[in-house]
Amino acid sequence: MNEPLTSNRDDAMSFSSKAVPAVTRAGLVEERLRRYGILPVVELEDLNQADDLFAALSAGGIAAAEITLRSPDAAVALEKLIERHPDALLGAGSVRTPDDARRMVGIGASFVVSPGTDEEMIDYCLQHDVLVLPGVCTPTEVLRALRVGARLLKFFPAEAAGGVRFLKALSGPFRDVNFVPTGGISEANLETYLRLPQVAACGGSWMVAPELLVAGKFGEIAELARRALDIVKEVRGDR
Ligand code: 3PG
Repeated sequence: MNEPLTSNRDDAMSFSSKAVPAVTRAGLVEERLRRYGILPVVELEDLNQADDLFAALSAGGIAAAEITLRSPDAAVALEKLIERHPDALLGAGSVRTPDDARRMVGIGASFVVSPGTDEEMIDYCLQHDVLVLPGVCTPTEVLRALRVGARLLKFFPAEAAGGVRFLKALSGPFRDVNFVPTGGISEANLETYLRLPQVAACGGSWMVAPELLVAGKFGEIAELARRALDIVKEVRGDR
């Protein structure tokens, strides 16, 4: 005769109540990113604008930026910003190779964002306690990223890949996975993403669009950042 089924729930609960969550640097960065709810994605052509840009974002309430490795001076700009603002949330975006990830970790990036899923890159960042956001836009990529230990995924390119509808569908099998949708997000659709429980934050360039930078419209950048934070506040009701 089969043994009656028993529950080890009490054991599990007493274990979890005693467990002290490890405070990791990556965990703290993730927590700050979640609190902002917004990640400005910056394409910086002119190194000399780095300070004004960061000042504008900070004035708008967001001391955070993903500096994408899409211009020759991007890595230098990021390094300078990190030196000057060691407590800010400053990371690298459009990181495409493990070598680039190593360079970004080397200069002290708070986080590394990639358009795709590269296991070696994820593993390197995890080994160095740096938050890594691999890009995913299929269930298979989600599985691959999770398998090597990523815990926060960039859903990219969000709008082109199916937007909010697609993310909702993913939350069936991946309801415990959190995403940072990026690509095609703006003031107009930010709220619909933030309302999804699995969305930790949204990335986007609308606050720091290249045309605003070229025209030196830093006041407008600050205003757009402020308005984005207001949307986060409205959705979450916690700011
Ligand atoms: C990215 O690099 O994550 C995206 O290009 C940003 O997308 P967006 O310019 O549509 O906001």
